[in-house]
Amino acid sequence: MKIREITLKDLDPEAFIRTQMEALRDTVGEGTAVVALSGGVDSSVVTMLGHRALGSRLKAYFIENGIMRAGEPQAIVAAFKRLGVRVELVDARAQFFRALKGITDPEEKREAITQTFYKTVFGPLVKQSGARFLLQGTNYTDVEETVAGIKRQHNVLAQLGIDTKKVYGYHVLEPVIQLRKTGVRMVGKALGLPKAIYDRPPFPGPALAARVIGAVTPERVTTVRAATRIVEEELSRSGAFQYLAILHEDRVTGIRKGKREFGHQIEVRCWESLDAITGTPTHLSWPVLELLAKRITAEVKGVVSVTYNITPKPPSTIEAV
Ligand code: XMP
Repeated sequence: MKIREITLKDLDPEAFIRTQMEALRDTVGEGTAVVALSGGVDSSVVTMLGHRALGSRLKAYFIENGIMRAGEPQAIVAAFKRLGVRVELVDARAQFFRALKGITDPEEKREAITQTFYKTVFGPLVKQSGARFLLQGTNYTDVEETVAGIKRQHNVLAQLGIDTKKVYGYHVLEPVIQLRKTGVRMVGKALGLPKAIYDRPPFPGPALAARVIGAVTPERVTTVRAATRIVEEELSRSGAFQYLAILHEDRVTGIRKGKREFGHQIEVRCWESLDAITGTPTHLSWPVLELLAKRITAEVKGVVSVTYNITPKPPSTIEAV
């Protein structure tokens, strides 16, 4: 890879912040830039760096794509308001569901999300705002996995030979591309972000669409969103690297109140990992697993089966799609 990784041993967060702020000021000049904030660690750090470097010349957008977690768009906008950063919420739910309609192949889903995000949504937004630059939180691991052909991370463009200026009409700036997640967290802390943001478990760009096997419809996203909320409530104290719920494509025969119910299956995953390159399933206790099964089948409409993934990465990956 052409990008030089900055390892933890070489990372001085304060110096990194100074260098990146200068680079942003140099590149953007007197112009303006927009930032795509998803509320994840990487994009939050980039938003704060951009805000510090460019002030009101940075316009922050949160794209409500219909595949975020419960209450997430409003919570992120409110959290950044408290930090003095105004974030505009853009309702793009219809565009994303239209683009995802009828697609079941994982890489095609990722491609549909990428095109909707950069072309359909950000193309006009950047143009309207008069900006020439889009800031985003691509990190070193995103690029590595995409270049290796494992998963096309939604936000990797230049390293795939995509000239964003030509294709989408703007340049993409990636201030944390030399860092892995732990490094990004250290920079977030040094920037004064609250722990709840810089220490957040990772969440993928393709959001809940990465956790729906098969068709991504509003109904199926509602199911996985409800299961995700329960998994996050129950496992946030586990100290694990990441924990998630996946909706399977196949249905299975269940029984409820003495009657047959041909229902959905949710798979729970909980990971121990340092950098998301490899991972092992957390040894959750049996009572915790039982509680998850009990709550998910009782509280999520139509779910009759809950499983726990015990496969490490590799050969599994962290997300299902
Ligand atoms: P996988 O599923 O490839 O995930 O083992 C590795 C880590 O990356 C996150 N992930 C993504 N992050 N865009 C992102 O920004 C993506 O397209 C994407 N896909 C997966 C995943 O949650 C895990 O932390």
